[in-house]
Amino acid sequence: MRRYSLAALSIPVLMAACAAPSAAPVAPMPGVAPAWPFSGKARVTNGINAMVVTGSPLASEVGRDILQQGGNAVDAAVAVGFALAVVHPEAGNIGGGGFMIIRPRNGRVRALDYREAAPSLATRDMYHAAGPDASVTGHLSVGVPGAVAGLTEAHRQYGRLPFSAVIEPSIRLATQGFLVDEYRSSSIASDSARLVFFPASRTTFLPADRPPQPGSIFRQPELGATLEAIRDSGAAGFYQGWVAELIVAEMRRGGGLISRDDLARYRAIWREPIEISYRGYTIYSMPPASSGGVTMGQILNIMEGFGALPPFGSAALLHREAEAMRRAFADRNTYLGDPDFVRNPVERLLSKEYASQLRRQIGEQASITPNLAPMAPGGSSTTHYSVIDAEGNAVSCTTTLNNSYGSAVTVTGAGFLLNDEMDDFATSPGQPNMYGLVQGEANAIAPGKRMLSAMTPSIVLDPKKQLQMVVGTPGGPRIITMVYHVISNVIDHHMSLPDAVAAPRMHHQGLPDSLQVESDGFLPVTLDSLRAKGHRISARGRWGDVEGITRTATGWQGVSDPRRGGGGAGY
Ligand code: DON
Repeated sequence: MRRYSLAALSIPVLMAACAAPSAAPVAPMPGVAPAWPFSGKARVTNGINAMVVTGSPLASEVGRDILQQGGNAVDAAVAVGFALAVVHPEAGNIGGGGFMIIRPRNGRVRALDYREAAPSLATRDMYHAAGPDASVTGHLSVGVPGAVAGLTEAHRQYGRLPFSAVIEPSIRLATQGFLVDEYRSSSIASDSARLVFFPASRTTFLPADRPPQPGSIFRQPELGATLEAIRDSGAAGFYQGWVAELIVAEMRRGGGLISRDDLARYRAIWREPIEISYRGYTIYSMPPASSGGVTMGQILNIMEGFGALPPFGSAALLHREAEAMRRAFADRNTYLGDPDFVRNPVERLLSKEYASQLRRQIGEQASITPNLAPMAPGGSSTTHYSVIDAEGNAVSCTTTLNNSYGSAVTVTGAGFLLNDEMDDFATSPGQPNMYGLVQGEANAIAPGKRMLSAMTPSIVLDPKKQLQMVVGTPGGPRIITMVYHVISNVIDHHMSLPDAVAAPRMHHQGLPDSLQVESDGFLPVTLDSLRAKGHRISARGRWGDVEGITRTATGWQGVSDPRRGGGGAGY
């Protein structure tokens, strides 16, 4: 087995619960540009019994504490979900939605869909007159939130601790406050131009008309009261009663559509996960209303048929990946949508036979997709967390407000942000959305329908069907290709999970017709070869925040993406 660095092995695993950056500097991995800054830099946490990794070290500690109080992985995941709404408000939320894959130790894997839904007054063409920004910022961009229904339902089905114990840490963090660090302060600063526009967002996130300063304590008493209502009445504390009244009043204030009935009717839905077999491994991931599992499955199926893959970072590999991704995204954007509204041909799309057909179309030169869609800058606000408890139960959960700080609208009097998930619909079928995705009728807006997502919370079993890895990330459509990369880096390129997460990423989504690469990641000679094959290369910053866990010889290793500020907590 090839190993590119000793990152995974450099920390004695017997020092349970120690978090440390992996040793630096590390020689760049083969196929990676010398200027790539992340080689050997993934944040690694080891635990003998259990592990929680999230985009916020504070939230990971909440999850670890719940596990140590006797909670199981679902208790910890629910506690983390609420805590992220307090300490990571650009993405963690109670005003958004998400997807959770749960694998009880040796039990049946299930997928929980608590994606937002279009309000009942929504119409297919509602954004035509409203202007292009209306699906991204402000009251009209908000879908009926699903997070509280999802978290309470997961706990109802699987939780072991009382719900009050699981939600308590988030109430404490909201009412007593937490210490603001550089990351939090600058994150709020970077969206302040949107937040300042909405009075309740301004008072909540820009007290004294500026972001909370590093070193200060950030308190959110109204959010604390909302969380107490949920503690006392469960989902009804959010979808009925005074919190629901305040949501509806907020909608009226800014021309939003969500009604009392929309809130009262919202339910989280249990679905069968997508199951993908890849070179003897089994991968469970999210079915529609997320495209994540199907589209990643198509990419993996196409790649599997190539046999042993060319080396990491080679033009031959990137070309094949780009061509596989281009085809999988074309199907995504044509066929997938809320399965309660449109038929998703999942079985056909995921058949190995269909993958062979697509693979046979791939030659030595790039295929051409007519370039209709400029790539708009994506937000940065989704967040993923992974949990494994001492019994081996696993949870993989991705949750979002869509854009950073969602619609930028905070519910007056209730202290939480609302999503702008309506932009994930094909708001204008045939036109690009915020992420440059050009989607069709299957994902057109309809009342009560869930907008198609790319979130890809995943769980990987090894060929002996043992739990091997829990993984996911934010990143819009690139979520799908990032989770693919991490899985393939481990299985095909024999990287440790820290190396697999730190490695540079590429992405293709068909439209726009460009092969996106992280800047400074791949060798110039590789990019030249790809250009010679007809690819348009676009080098674009860095993306993602993979939060994953893998099995080690003596326990679990949590791995946080070096591109952002997450961290793990284990014991
Ligand atoms: O559900 C989706 O696919 C998008 N709303 C996710 C957005 C996202 O990941 C933005 N952040 N990085």
